[in-house]
Amino acid sequence: MSLGGKVWITWTRKTKSNYVGKIILAAALTALCILMLKQSPSFNSRSPFSNHEPGVTHVLVTGGAGYIGSHAALRLLKDSHRVTVVDNLSRGNMGAVKVLQELFPEPGRLQFIYADLGNAKAVNKIFAENAFDAVMHFAAVAYVGESTLDPLKYYHNITSNTLVVLEAMAAHGVKTLIYSSTCATYGEPEKMPITEETPQLPINPYGKAKKMAEDIILDFHKNSNMAIMILRLFHPHVSFFHYFSLSVKTQMARLGEAPRPELREHGRISGACFDAARGIIPGLKVRGVDYKTPDGTCIRDYIDVTDLVDAHVKALEKAMPGKVGIYNVGTGRDQSRSLLRHVRRLTGVNIKVDFLPRRPGDYAEVFSDPSKILLELNWTAQYTDLQKSLGIAWRWQKLHRNGYGTSVTIADS
Ligand SMILES: NC(=O)c1ccc[n+]([C@@H]2O[C@H](COP(=O)([O-])OP(=O)(O)OC[C@H]3O[C@@H](n4cnc5c(N)ncnc54)[C@H](O)[C@@H]3O)[C@@H](O)[C@H]2O)c1
Repeated sequence: MSLGGKVWITWTRKTKSNYVGKIILAAALTALCILMLKQSPSFNSRSPFSNHEPGVTHVLVTGGAGYIGSHAALRLLKDSHRVTVVDNLSRGNMGAVKVLQELFPEPGRLQFIYADLGNAKAVNKIFAENAFDAVMHFAAVAYVGESTLDPLKYYHNITSNTLVVLEAMAAHGVKTLIYSSTCATYGEPEKMPITEETPQLPINPYGKAKKMAEDIILDFHKNSNMAIMILRLFHPHVSFFHYFSLSVKTQMARLGEAPRPELREHGRISGACFDAARGIIPGLKVRGVDYKTPDGTCIRDYIDVTDLVDAHVKALEKAMPGKVGIYNVGTGRDQSRSLLRHVRRLTGVNIKVDFLPRRPGDYAEVFSDPSKILLELNWTAQYTDLQKSLGIAWRWQKLHRNGYGTSVTIADS
């Protein structure tokens, strides 16, 4: 009896421990299944970003926290597109993304993904989890002077990262690419204005890296059915968005130009003029007075960022499978000399100008022939009243003395 009882007790204990073990195993298996499901793209099928929706174009805006990219994201959202911004915040402002989030809080309109385009695994995961219809590729380091000091950074960030984006697009069947290139790919042409047929002979690593990225895209396109638009941007001069009325809320919420302090010296001339007017820097440095131009200084084709963004939207609308479009995006005018005069008048500050030797990598004269883009995309610059555009940019600067006030500081890639 007692022996039988022992056996029974042992059996009962064994049965109990087996039973507990089975429960633990089942729980572990369930947890594993949930984890796997969570990682599979189909699990997120309730997220509007992971499904194509008829009538809605989901655009991946790389570099959407930056100057042009954030304005482009705003315009796309305003035009009822769905936008995913991918940015590593090495140069952009989270403050700009917050502005967009405040303006478009509805689910399925805008999402921000913090990622570095140099990380192919992360980029691939983003494409696997999101149903993009098109990519507007803005993300880049984009200062001529810096590119001569740190060329490898430029080839890596611009050329190599474009390859990563293109590979992900090919792998995940995303069929439309709008690529933001630059007039720096032309170098210093003998003949002005610059047409799309002008030979591309870049003279600095920034222009060369962009040209290489263009070449990669064009070679890939030869055996693909992708719709490609390459826009060679001339020089954006102000950060002002014309679409919203001037109610206090929208006025406060609009986007502006707020480069990181350490990048100010590489930045745009309009920003430098405003910094000088606000006393942030002692004056304006004009680099090079011995160019073969009427007054010896460089000539540039300045364009309002609103117009640049409009060109990207028109390119998106007109992009055709299997076709490539290459367009200059500029005004075709030289307004270089009047810029300082306008800023002096607007700010009431007699900005001091120091004339310095040439900066390596700069070219004397650059302005576009914008007739091809007018003919084929029906685009022309609308906001060519430089004084008016600068006036509104100056107002933004005064309202945002601390930029976006963001304290996010993440190292460059
Ligand atoms: N601003 C100009 O004068 C000008 C002229 C011609 C062409 N472009 C082109 O327009 C595009 C946008 O320029 P911008 O003036 O808005 O520059 P920007 O520096 O304001 O914006 C670039 C954005 O890209 C992001 N970025 C950079 N490297 C990244 C990476 N590895 N991964 C993810 N995000 C990254 C930055 O954080 C930033 O938000 C660039 O491709 C530039 O070459 C600019």
